[in-house]
Amino acid sequence: MEYRILGRTGLKVSVMGIGAGGPSRLGQRDNNKSEAESVDLVLRGLDAGINFIDTAEAYRTEAIIGAAVAQRDRSKLIISTKKQLRGENITREELRAGLHDSLRRLQTDYIDIYHLHGLKPEQYAYYLKEIAPGMQDLRDEGLIRFLGVTENWSGDLEHEMLARALQDGVWDVVMVGFNLLNQTARESVLEATIKKDIGVLIMFAIRRALSQPAKLKATIQSLIDSGEVDPQDIDPANPLSFLVDSGAAPSIADAAYRFCRDESGTHVILSGTGNPAHLEANLAAFERPPLPAEVTARLKRIFRKSRSVTGG
Ligand SMILES: NC(=O)c1ccc[n+]([C@@H]2O[C@H](COP(=O)([O-])OP(=O)(O)OC[C@H]3O[C@@H](n4cnc5c(N)ncnc54)[C@H](OP(=O)(O)O)[C@@H]3O)[C@@H](O)[C@H]2O)c1
Repeated sequence: MEYRILGRTGLKVSVMGIGAGGPSRLGQRDNNKSEAESVDLVLRGLDAGINFIDTAEAYRTEAIIGAAVAQRDRSKLIISTKKQLRGENITREELRAGLHDSLRRLQTDYIDIYHLHGLKPEQYAYYLKEIAPGMQDLRDEGLIRFLGVTENWSGDLEHEMLARALQDGVWDVVMVGFNLLNQTARESVLEATIKKDIGVLIMFAIRRALSQPAKLKATIQSLIDSGEVDPQDIDPANPLSFLVDSGAAPSIADAAYRFCRDESGTHVILSGTGNPAHLEANLAAFERPPLPAEVTARLKRIFRKSRSVTGG
């Protein structure tokens, strides 16, 4: 497993991170796994060298992560979790109460990175003024180590919230949507995080479009219909098959993870699954060398105008 330094946090993190949310929530959403099976999946990931785990109050997987972490050395793991921001703006008291609930479920007395979850552009000003100082208090009390913010990509395709957040000095880590189908974060987010040495967690690396052939076809067709992808560049009946046919990767998902891993400025690529065979395939993907330069260049060219999809 490759390890990287997570920007100004100085934390040494595995490039592959366990994502306990997304479409599968460790198998608790789509795959109907038992909690014990999900705990085993997390333990397998940790034993393969992953030291970064991302969860959230909203995912209802914190207790599963807590059960796994209790069986390993907590001090060697980096736990990232998030405060849910539904409906009305939350108060500092709700932030603090939410953190204490997360600590209890995670069976730990500190969180390494505590995020505001899916912050929308229109919410940003309130959360910067009223809630970020509350997060700083929690940090000063030793309950959290670093402050993070994650975007609501499907409702904020242009990364407006993060572009704004990166102008403030408050956030140590950001979580951003990026994948080979939509590479807009390269300019609007990653250029600034590199300059400011902010930690970067990547979500949506494969999501549904890069893991389900029917969803990929529909996504490519929508990009062709909107004029964002040139049909001369891609076979709509069998999109991205060149990744496998050329021998560059054993699967599209494999290529998609490596594309994100080797993008400049990314630190942790989150990978979510409830399927042990998929976990093994994903661990193997992160061990493979970079995609051939001509393949990466081709993916950058095909999707250079793509901005209307997340692959979700
Ligand atoms: N705003 C936010 O804060 C936010 C939003 C979204 C996600 N996240 C974080 O990012 C993490 C990653 O989530 P994501 O949304 O980006 O999804 P993802 O992890 O890119 O995609 C997971 C999907 O791909 C499937 N999959 C995984 N490996 C596969 C393989 N080798 N072959 C075929 N299918 C495979 C999974 O199904 P199976 O279970 O069947 O494998 C699941 O449906 C989440 O867990 C969460 O921690 C944060």
